Amino acid sequence: MAIILAIESSCDETSAAVCRDGNILSNYIANQQIHEQYGGVVPELASRAHMQNIVPVVDVALRDAGCAIQEVDAIAFTQSPGLIGALLVGSQFAKSLAQALNKPLIAVHHMQAHVLANLIDDPKPAFPFLCLTVSGGHTQIVLCESPYSLKVIGETIDDAAGEAFDKSAKLLGLPYPGGPLIDKNAQQGNAERFKFPEPQVPGYNFSFSGLKTAILYFLQNAGTSTIYKDEFMATEHEKQVFIDQNLPDICASIQQRIISILLNKLKKAADDTGIKNICIAGGVSANSGLRKAIKQMGEQFGWNTFVPAFQYCTDNAAMIAITGYYKYLKGEFADLSVTASARAEWE
Ligand code: KG4
Ligand code: ZN
Repeated sequence: MAIILAIESSCDETSAAVCRDGNILSNYIANQQIHEQYGGVVPELASRAHMQNIVPVVDVALRDAGCAIQEVDAIAFTQSPGLIGALLVGSQFAKSLAQALNKPLIAVHHMQAHVLANLIDDPKPAFPFLCLTVSGGHTQIVLCESPYSLKVIGETIDDAAGEAFDKSAKLLGLPYPGGPLIDKNAQQGNAERFKFPEPQVPGYNFSFSGLKTAILYFLQNAGTSTIYKDEFMATEHEKQVFIDQNLPDICASIQQRIISILLNKLKKAADDTGIKNICIAGGVSANSGLRKAIKQMGEQFGWNTFVPAFQYCTDNAAMIAITGYYKYLKGEFADLSVTASARAEWE
């Protein structure tokens, strides 16, 4: 029997989870509301909130799991990538706990953990599988041959899919984080109404910065064109009236384009590799349009599709726990000299 206590603090969620033999017993997530008023995550405020949250969050996770701290067999934590101050709070806490309890320490890569969130619930994907990982900072197609062999075969060359959602929302005057609000408005909208360009990027890579610019011009042209004009048609007031009158259709059309950019590349990777087990992961995999579209593609192309439960899509410690469990089985432990890292390549 192996009980893993996991800690995630890479961005603006403080989370702790407990897993026993690969089964998640608890997954507690404290969100930080403070960033909303600034329109984005303020790193220093995130670090301070993590410091306030970490002890009670770990406490709740242990209590929810019905587990005493002495029963824990190893402590897993997010080592990278993320905001350095935020990562430091979780990593120093995990290291201190490991030393105090004399238990092994497991360092986890946040992006690998997003992928392995697909191994939490049944049915689990068989290997090999492809995973489209879409979060606020990353957009990747990952080829997974085992929990220990994950290879990035495509990624964004500029903005991440989550950033595309959040920046589009900002242009529409919606508060941060805008992704869930675009999703909500899109559910009442007509996705065929407005056409946004699809970038031509080679291979399995993605680009979203052109879409952001097209949306900017589209609004300044009051919906008549996505192209730059020396004299834009709309005044600030007219632009706002256009947004107010058409918000659901604009959101649905933007969301449809982001999804088609993602899924066209995923389809190409599936065709080229012949892999039919297809997963999604990361915060944007909470998007209702993407969840529906991947299921439809699965039916159309004979794929076995896997979509994590909502609580395992956005940042959470359960995914750190499951990744920690696989590392535990292989004895992949870190020593106390391990340090947090804002950026880290995959081994
Ligand atoms: O994985 P995540 O929680 O944090 C990072 O590791 O970045 O992803 C956060 C991103 C944000 O950009 C947020 O707007 C987006 O996921 N997101 C969504 C939805 N829920 C979260 N985007 C579109 N639709 C949603 N329902
Ligand atoms: Zn994440």
